[in-house]
Amino acid sequence: MLTIQNISLRLLFLTIATLLIINISVVSDTWAKEEHMNKYGDMLEDDMINPFEGDPEAIAAGYEKFNSRCSYCHGMRGIGAKGPPLTRGYYKKSGGTNMQLYSTIVNGLLVNGKPTQMGAFGRTIEGDDIWRIIAYLRQEYKDRKAAGSEFKYGVYP
Ligand code: HEC
Repeated sequence: MLTIQNISLRLLFLTIATLLIINISVVSDTWAKEEHMNKYGDMLEDDMINPFEGDPEAIAAGYEKFNSRCSYCHGMRGIGAKGPPLTRGYYKKSGGTNMQLYSTIVNGLLVNGKPTQMGAFGRTIEGDDIWRIIAYLRQEYKDRKAAGSEFKYGVYP
């Protein structure tokens, strides 16, 4: 349902995401070294809230979306392929806060100011589905951690 609140929330996300991409090449390297970066995928207090965090239905939908749009480069269950792993709870280039992940998926990833193979999905995946994908990635990591399995790049744990 497109309520006013819904629309303005989306506009807010997009504005933040756009502002972020302008700074991302400069800031991402710095943030990666600062405490602001969430290395282990747990949400920081000042981070954006994922409306679907922990919601089983949304996570299942996020899993489907991930399989159709992301696994081609990031491997099944995000274990890494030609793109880096996304479910080891550590995001070296983008940073691991909700805001950083959301922005990276919407705008794509710049490294040293240059576009990478990680393109922008903001025009082809709607905002809620981006959150669902992030909710899925978080859950996958949590499950793996809870099971005590060690992450190995490109290998199903
Ligand atoms: C065409 C291949 C491709 C597709 C499709 C793709 N990615 Fe990427 N992605 C990459 C590559 C390559 C990188 C690393 C870029 C670099 O560091 O130069 C990356 C990086 C990332 C990062 C940062 C990872 C880190 O460790 O910092 C995130 C987050 C990400 N992708 C999420 C996604 C999501 C979610 C999708 C699906 C909506 C997706 N990607 C689809 C190729 C892809």
